[in-house]
Amino acid sequence: MMKPYLLLAFVSFSYAFPTSSWDQLSHRLMETRMKRDIHGRQDPVAVVTGLTQIPDADHPFMAPGPTDQRGPCPGLNVLANHGYLPRSGIVTQADIVSGVSEGFNMAPDLAGFLSLVSIAYDGDLVTGKFSIGGPDSRTSLLGALQNILGVEGGLDYHAGIEGDASATRDDAYFGDDHTMIPELYAQMKSIAANYGGLYTLEAMKDLQQLRHQQSVQTNPTFYFVPLASALDIGAKAFITVFFTNGTYGDGGVPNEESISSFFGAQLLPNGSYQFVPERFPDNWYRRGTPFTLLDGIGQILDFYSTRDIPFGGNAGAVNTFEPLDIPALTNVNGMACFIRDAIQANVPSSVSQPIQVVEQVISSVVSVVDPLFENFGCPAFNASETQAYAAINELQNGS
Ligand code: HEM
Ligand SMILES: *[C@@H]1O[C@H](CO)[C@@H](O)[C@H](O)[C@H]1NC(C)=O
Ligand SMILES: *[C@@H]1O[C@H](CO)[C@@H](O)[C@H](O)[C@H]1NC(C)=O
Ligand SMILES: *[C@@H]1O[C@H](CO)[C@@H](O)[C@H](O)[C@H]1NC(C)=O
Repeated sequence: MMKPYLLLAFVSFSYAFPTSSWDQLSHRLMETRMKRDIHGRQDPVAVVTGLTQIPDADHPFMAPGPTDQRGPCPGLNVLANHGYLPRSGIVTQADIVSGVSEGFNMAPDLAGFLSLVSIAYDGDLVTGKFSIGGPDSRTSLLGALQNILGVEGGLDYHAGIEGDASATRDDAYFGDDHTMIPELYAQMKSIAANYGGLYTLEAMKDLQQLRHQQSVQTNPTFYFVPLASALDIGAKAFITVFFTNGTYGDGGVPNEESISSFFGAQLLPNGSYQFVPERFPDNWYRRGTPFTLLDGIGQILDFYSTRDIPFGGNAGAVNTFEPLDIPALTNVNGMACFIRDAIQANVPSSVSQPIQVVEQVISSVVSVVDPLFENFGCPAFNASETQAYAAINELQNGS
């Protein structure tokens, strides 16, 4: 563990340096921070099996206060509203790994991966913190909101891991990408109605396809490219696999009572919905088996290969969708390696640091991510794959 005063000295030192020294800074940062404190593989965390009622008495609901951050993820919002995560919404990887395990039985490898990319894309690599909502000076050691990738936007930040075609959130093009939209909740409910009112995986696949179509038809800047879009697909599966009362596929029921409470969708007498802070349903049971990174990638592949939801983007106008030129993704290893490579290939376009610094940072992140993916037997990263992304980015920029 690096001593706090050393870290402080190191950071203020960097402020006296011209931009050309970002190189050494980032190098040093990676060695000290990424390799030590932010893990690819998690230390063993108690694996929880068997149904457990959540929340327990130590985790009462409290509505968020004015300075508490909440954002696009109903799962993290509800955990913060019950104190399974810091109620401020300013979190570390360790907070996430233990909070999502306790509240939802998400396995440490999946939680470690999701929090790692959140810190790298939306948070602060020095403090290891990110905001589960908008930008917040509490994530940054010096309050400067200057992440090594350029900006600490929090999970709301669109160029990070927040993506288009979300279940209940608008595309960033329409202004607000993180607030639950009651009409979108009602639309999701109408799809569940086709499945006996249950939010099954099949219903969530239909929803993903509909949201994809709606974005193609209404959002000229629709951008559906991993990493964000793969996580966006995964998030639809999360609705079923985590919000179900009990274990989905093993007697658990993804009923309206549970799902509406997690989305903060309150039914009004006139039949429309309004948003209230997310809370655990009364008398609700957490899934009984951990849901792992492999499970998550398996779900993304299943959605992707059974519905018409290609990766790609609109070319600056509605209904101009160009699919990404990639090999068919037919097995879980292929999808896993594609997602791993996306972290490296799809460098956020908004970065303000010199490109070689960004590449260094990204490859350091990948070196932490790689051990998580080693069981998938991915080949070494092939830089020419970045061309697939470059083509879509050019289309979007109208060049
Ligand atoms: C482990 C760390 C997690 C991180 C960093 C994270 C982050 C995010 C982000 C950035 C989004 C927005 C995606 C988009 O724009 O499409 C999102 C959406 C979502 N997340 Fe999470 N999440 C995490 C864990 C969870 C957990 C444990 C659950 C469920 C218990 C969950 C459920 C969801 C759902 C249902 C959505 C979709 C919301 C919608 O589209 O309306 N997430 N998450
Ligand atoms: C339903 O009631 C709410 C609250 O009274 C109101 O804001 C909303 O406009 C109403 N919606 C419709 C469709 O009448
Ligand atoms: C969850 O399941 C339990 C056990 O079947 C049941 O008693 C309870 O009412 C359910 N709760 C919700 C919110 O559906
Ligand atoms: C990298 O990918 C390109 C395009 O798919 C291919 O032509 C090339 O042979 C690959 N290089 C390696 C080392 O696999």
